[in-house]
Amino acid sequence: MSSLLDDLSALEAEALEAVDSADTLDNLESIRVQYLGRKDGRISAILRRVGELEPEERPQVGAEANRVKGRLQEALESQTAALTAEKGGQGSPGEDLTLPGRAPWAGGRHPVTLVIDELWEIFRGLGFTRARGPEAETEWHNFVALNTPLDHPAADEQDTLYLKGGHLLRSHTSPVQVRVMQSHRPPIRVLAPGMVYRRDTYDATHAPAFAQLEGLVVDEGITFVDLKATLAEFARRYWGPETRVRFRPSFFPFTEPSAEVDVKRVYRDAEGREQETDWLEIMGAGMVDPAVLDQCGIDSERYTGFAFGMGPGRIGMLKYGIPDIRAYFDNDMRFLRQFAHR
Ligand code: PHE
Repeated sequence: MSSLLDDLSALEAEALEAVDSADTLDNLESIRVQYLGRKDGRISAILRRVGELEPEERPQVGAEANRVKGRLQEALESQTAALTAEKGGQGSPGEDLTLPGRAPWAGGRHPVTLVIDELWEIFRGLGFTRARGPEAETEWHNFVALNTPLDHPAADEQDTLYLKGGHLLRSHTSPVQVRVMQSHRPPIRVLAPGMVYRRDTYDATHAPAFAQLEGLVVDEGITFVDLKATLAEFARRYWGPETRVRFRPSFFPFTEPSAEVDVKRVYRDAEGREQETDWLEIMGAGMVDPAVLDQCGIDSERYTGFAFGMGPGRIGMLKYGIPDIRAYFDNDMRFLRQFAHR
């Protein structure tokens, strides 16, 4: 009899060791079958030999066999749980199943991109197509072709960074007008968004790099009426039908006449009372100077056009109440996330 008890205790040690080092659920299952299997299991084999013992010795071996079975079953269960948890299953110790899940971060549009897309939707509805030009420009496209001699004060106002090889970082998106007029014949109706660069101090209202959105229309018979109607229609679609639009005389070397365009938003407050904002300056605009048309190979006797340029960053500050332009560049996720799902 002592030999059966010895066999059991050797088998117990061996089985526990096997369970401990099992590294897959399949492994565990074959260990279970090997030791606990009803017909061919090794414990069953030992129990079959209980008949060889004296009757009074049998209960002790039976009891010991049951204890080993129980112990083995427990070991199998806890190893099954451990392996399942490793695989990402549930119930590993220390795992809090009541914690909310972590949503994957899907990314989103930068607020300035969001505003450009909103503005683009409106102009697309007015028949504009999209154009783009390089950020590294020639002096000729950025200034000269736009009627701005390099010694003109307007060229000083838009001082920028110069690159090797005679290029500069464009100080506005107006050179895209030049490129479009050189490569396309009228009728032209394009919108060109992009980054521009100026030697400006970085403060609440200035950044040395910022986005602009340029518009250009060239065709036969285009007048200042078309400019006013197009920009007023745009402003009402963007800020609401009650929005008022004002054109103030201004100067740009490449448009004549030129204007600054202001909007005043008229809206109802929470109590339903009519409220209005101050006049807000949103863009520069004007009729394309005939000299610019001619420079770009478009017959200024036959065609006229208008152009405008606005800063989507400023427009976004007004629309979303952003007090400091630097918020666009700080990469603070608490700020950026607010626009991610718009
Ligand atoms: N390019 C001008 C600027 O950056 C804006 C503008 C564009 C004015 C088109 C008139 C026409 O200030």
